[in-house]
Amino acid sequence: MPLPHVLLSAAVSLDGYLDDTGPERLLLSSPADFDRVDGVRASVDAILVGGGTVRADNPRLLVNSAERRAARVADGRAEYPLKVTVSGSGELDPAARFWHTGGDKVLLTTDDGARRARALGIGADVVSLGADLDWRAALEYLHDRRGVRRLMVEGGGTVHTQLLQQGLADELQLVLAPLFVGDPAAPRLFGPGAYQGGRLRLVETRRIEDVVLMRYLPTAPGAGDRVAAADRHWLALACELAELCPPSDTAFSVGAVVVAADGSELARGHSREGGDPVVHAEEAALAKVDPEDPRLPGATVYSSLEPCARRASRPAPCARLILDAGVRRVVTAWREPDTFVAGADGSGVLTAAGAVVVVLAEYAQRAKAPNRHLEG
Ligand SMILES: NC(=O)c1ccc[n+]([C@@H]2O[C@H](COP(=O)([O-])OP(=O)(O)OC[C@H]3O[C@@H](n4cnc5c(N)ncnc54)[C@H](OP(=O)(O)O)[C@@H]3O)[C@@H](O)[C@H]2O)c1
Repeated sequence: MPLPHVLLSAAVSLDGYLDDTGPERLLLSSPADFDRVDGVRASVDAILVGGGTVRADNPRLLVNSAERRAARVADGRAEYPLKVTVSGSGELDPAARFWHTGGDKVLLTTDDGARRARALGIGADVVSLGADLDWRAALEYLHDRRGVRRLMVEGGGTVHTQLLQQGLADELQLVLAPLFVGDPAAPRLFGPGAYQGGRLRLVETRRIEDVVLMRYLPTAPGAGDRVAAADRHWLALACELAELCPPSDTAFSVGAVVVAADGSELARGHSREGGDPVVHAEEAALAKVDPEDPRLPGATVYSSLEPCARRASRPAPCARLILDAGVRRVVTAWREPDTFVAGADGSGVLTAAGAVVVVLAEYAQRAKAPNRHLEG
């Protein structure tokens, strides 16, 4: 089920706080960075904050630049992104600026919260997601019912923590401000709990006046058939690797990456790499990993094309190599067509042996791109 691209955006003090405990919101960013944030807001379909931020900051969450709003309208989009807040309790001030500025608003809440919000006269679409608020259901609702493809989440810490811990954040845009808060009662960006084990990928740093913007991508694969945002990043990389394959009229061009459960890349490969005219992507990648590596049983193999079930060129097909390596999770973009092997069913071989195969069909076009000449 496709979800929106979820971009977490926050500014923090040098000691990791989102705010102080004073009545006014602490301004952490610089003017140029607030303008950058305005640009990001203008680029997304929806902006989300938690009910705690609506209560503490009373924010408007607008696109302030008239030019950016005009550009949205010229593109056929709403002048303002959809504004979304989440609250289990529904205990929100109906006079808050959030409800009375900008364009469409939606409150995602629970059955109890919806009753309370309606009784309070909250001026928004009040949507109950059931007895509890499940983040995956919330994102599915925004994607499927509200057409949200890019979602900017502007805090607070409770919301950021949950989205990151649940593997639902695609990207973190973090601004580090050169000041200290020093009050343990102040809200922190990330609370305690179970985060991904390994390191996130740093993809950009930018100085903006006296603050620094850092962009990170989470790296940890999902578990079983539960798809994490990082699964999409790794599969996109596998599709990029497929573009590196020496061309062939008799074999597919495929890319593959092997990733440990903590998000560490163990190896990558692509078809026909290193001058071997018959090597497959998964085979090339797995050959670079020590077969005794204890991370293999918890690893995920990303392959732009489903691992092969039968092949003439080598004794073991890739589905078998993956199982023999101990890997039990495969994410792919494209099921193998009958081009070279009729009824190839690598996924069937894998699942029959207890592995999980996840197909993210939204990447199929990218996986097929270097194989266009084989069609028809
Ligand atoms: N520096 C920055 O970039 C930045 C940005 C935003 C906010 N902030 C600061 O962050 C602070 C607010 O952060 P916060 O952590 O207190 O609040 P928050 O994350 O904005 O909102 C938390 C609230 O959202 C609702 N919620 C979140 N997850 C839920 C779930 N799974 N089920 C049901 N309800 C859920 C709950 O509302 P109910 O309690 O109504 O049920 C919860 O109390 C403020 O001080 C603000 O200034 C800073």
